[in-house]
Amino acid sequence: KYLQEDDISQKGRDLLPLLPREKGWITTFIYQYQGFWYSPQILSSVLACQDHFQAQDTDVLLITAPKSGTTCPHNLVHFLESQLYFEQVIPNLASFTSPRLFATHLPYHLLPMSVKDSGCKLVYLCRNPKDTFVSFWHFANKIRSKGTGEIPLEECLDAFCRGTSPFGLYWDHVQGYYKASSEMPERVLFLRYEDLKEDPHVHVKRLADFLGCPLGKQELMDGTLDGILKMCSFDSLSALEVNKSGELSIGIGTNWFFRKGEVGDWLNYLSVEMGERIDRVMQEKMHGSGLKL
Ligand code: A3P
Repeated sequence: KYLQEDDISQKGRDLLPLLPREKGWITTFIYQYQGFWYSPQILSSVLACQDHFQAQDTDVLLITAPKSGTTCPHNLVHFLESQLYFEQVIPNLASFTSPRLFATHLPYHLLPMSVKDSGCKLVYLCRNPKDTFVSFWHFANKIRSKGTGEIPLEECLDAFCRGTSPFGLYWDHVQGYYKASSEMPERVLFLRYEDLKEDPHVHVKRLADFLGCPLGKQELMDGTLDGILKMCSFDSLSALEVNKSGELSIGIGTNWFFRKGEVGDWLNYLSVEMGERIDRVMQEKMHGSGLKL
């Protein structure tokens, strides 16, 4: 389904010829819209989401650039543009009870106006760009149609460094939310994948505080926090039957979202020079932002 390029809305179809395009990682082409790159189908659902999503003050949005560790049970935490607005231009969200929890890869500047105007909370998770890139390369190869074969690592790296990756520019994606969290810390929480892996207790407590549901002394002592961490761990989630053999409505196997879940796996795939290239691009692009990845 993800590869069916004809299956897009009329609005998307009208817009595509007007947009800059580049060779895609997964689909034949990706298109630049409002500074970021999308496959035609995702662009179509981004437009629908921007036009129709009505945020509520009690909503929580979990936001990432792809392959930063968004994965949660997909049918419990629905994805805006890759699921709800992918399936229908105006999905019926009436059955979602408050507080609603959604996931999205939308860059900050492309969030629907109602998100910015409401008091809803945004939780952004970023991941170091080298691991994110390697994870994305593997994922893209799984999704690409059988006939097209693997996308060469070097070609993919080149595109990532130029910013032409799905939902790229990667550095603008991260910086948009970093800035928003510095300006509105009560509305935007900025978390790092590596920090969560290193000290999950501390950061899950931060998350609970941010969401206004702090863990009490009792919950810290009686194993509630440990239980949450165990339930959300890579080992537990990847062992669930639904994540081993399930399939999302967009035709992607749920097990494709679980690979290794490690920090530093890029070392197994990128040469020193390739790693340095990503570092250089990030330093250059993020210079002055105060953000180090
Ligand atoms: P790797 O490919 O490096 O293993 P996303 O969920 O944004 O698509 O990101 C997928 C990445 O997050 C994959 O990284 C996947 O293995 C990892 N991941 C999935 N669930 C995880 C979990 N519970 N804890 C840590 N990492 C997880």
